[in-house]
Amino acid sequence: MKKRKIQIFDTTLRDGEQAPGFTMDLDEKVKMAAQLELLGADVIEAGFPISSDSEFESVKAIARKVTRSTVAALARAKKADIDRTWEALRHARKPRIHTFIATSEIHMMHKLKKTPEQVLQEAVWAVRYARTFCDDVEFSAEDATRSDLDFLCRVIEAVIDAGATVVNIPDTVGYSLPWEFGELIATIRRRVPNIDRAVLSVHCHDDLGMAVANSLAAIRNGAGQVECTINGIGERAGNAALEEIVMAMQARNTGFEEETGIEATLLYPTSQMLCEMTGTPVQINKAVVGRNAFSHEAGIHQDGMLKNPMTYEIMTPQSVGVDASKIVLGKHSGRNALNCRLRELGFHYSREELDRVYLAFINMADRKKNVADKDLIGLTQQNGFAGNGRFNGTTDDGIRHTVQDYLNKQKTAIPDPRW
Ligand code: KIV
Ligand code: ZN
Repeated sequence: MKKRKIQIFDTTLRDGEQAPGFTMDLDEKVKMAAQLELLGADVIEAGFPISSDSEFESVKAIARKVTRSTVAALARAKKADIDRTWEALRHARKPRIHTFIATSEIHMMHKLKKTPEQVLQEAVWAVRYARTFCDDVEFSAEDATRSDLDFLCRVIEAVIDAGATVVNIPDTVGYSLPWEFGELIATIRRRVPNIDRAVLSVHCHDDLGMAVANSLAAIRNGAGQVECTINGIGERAGNAALEEIVMAMQARNTGFEEETGIEATLLYPTSQMLCEMTGTPVQINKAVVGRNAFSHEAGIHQDGMLKNPMTYEIMTPQSVGVDASKIVLGKHSGRNALNCRLRELGFHYSREELDRVYLAFINMADRKKNVADKDLIGLTQQNGFAGNGRFNGTTDDGIRHTVQDYLNKQKTAIPDPRW
C-alpha cells in the first residue's frame, strides 16, 4: 500500500531561533537552511521579516539560496507584516506567506483586545491580501487548542474560502493531550466542509512534553503537515522535535500509513551542526540524537548488545547518521564488555587473568565515571598484565604499537565531539 506523504515544515530558523540560547547570524542561518534542504524538509520557515532588519535580510538570503524546499516566512495578519514578508520572500523559487492571528478567547480579549468577529474578518483579509502576492498562503489560528471549537471551525472554513492553501492548528502553549489533539484534528476534518481544499497542518509546543506525541496523533487523524524543529528547539520548552517524529514513523513504520521524505541518516549531523552553531548542546539523554542515545553501560545491556544489538536498540545508530553504538566502560559494566574492549585493543587474557583485570577495573571504575582506553592500558600495565608492553594485536589504524606509542597518540588525538 502506498503511504500518504507527510510534509515536514521545519521552523528551526523561526520558532526555534527566536528562543533564548539559539541565536544564529545570517551566514549560519543560510548554512542551516541549506542543510535542512539536504535533509529533505518540504518547507523551511526562514524567519519573521518584520521583527528586525537582520531577520529580514536572513529570510531574503535564504529565499535566494534554497531551491527545492518551499521557503516560508511569518507575518501577523497586518498589511505592514505581509508587505515586508513578501519583500523578503519574493525571490524564492517556492515562496509561502505564513500569516496568523490568535483565535482563543484569552488571546483575543487580553492580548489583541478584539472581538471574535474582528479576528475572523482580519484573518480573512490577511489571507486574501497575501494571496495577491503568492499562490501559497498558510494561515495559523494561534492558540487553536484553547479556542472555542465552533469559532475555530468557522475561521478555518472562512480562510480556506479566502484562499489559504494550508491551515495550521497550533498547540501554542503545549496544553493538549495526544488523544484530545487527535480528536480535534478528526473533528476539524469532519466539520469543516471545505477542509479538503487545504493541507491541514499542526504545530505543537512541548510544555507538557507532549509535542511529538500530539504531532503523531494528528498524523494518525489525517493531518498532512507537521511543524517541528531540529533538536526540538523553540519557545519555552520547545517545539516538536523533527528527528523524533521522523524516527517514530520510521522505526515503527508498520504502525503508520504515512511517511516523510526526510533522509534520516542526516539527522545526527544536522543536530550536531545546530549545536555547534548555537553553542547549546542537546541534553545527554535526548532521544535519537543525544550522546547517550546509542551508549550502553549497564552490564546486562552490554552483554545483550554484544550478542545482538537488537536486544537493546530499536534502530541502528547508522540509520540516523551516528557511526556506531558505544559501549561505555564504567562501574556498571560486566566482564564480557571489558573483555571485548581489551581484545579490540589487542589484549588477550585467560579466564583467571581476566578475573584479576576485572577486579582492578571495577576498583578503578568506582573512582572514575568512565574508564577510557588509556585507563585500561594503564591498568593492565600497573598490574603487570601486559607482558612485554606490546599489543598482541593492532589498533584501529592497523599498525602495531608499543603501549607508550598508543598513550602518546591518545594525547594528541583530536577528541570526537560526540563522545
Ligand atoms: O506557536 C504558535 O502558535 C506559532 C504560530 C505563529 C504558528 O508559532
Ligand atoms: Zn510556535
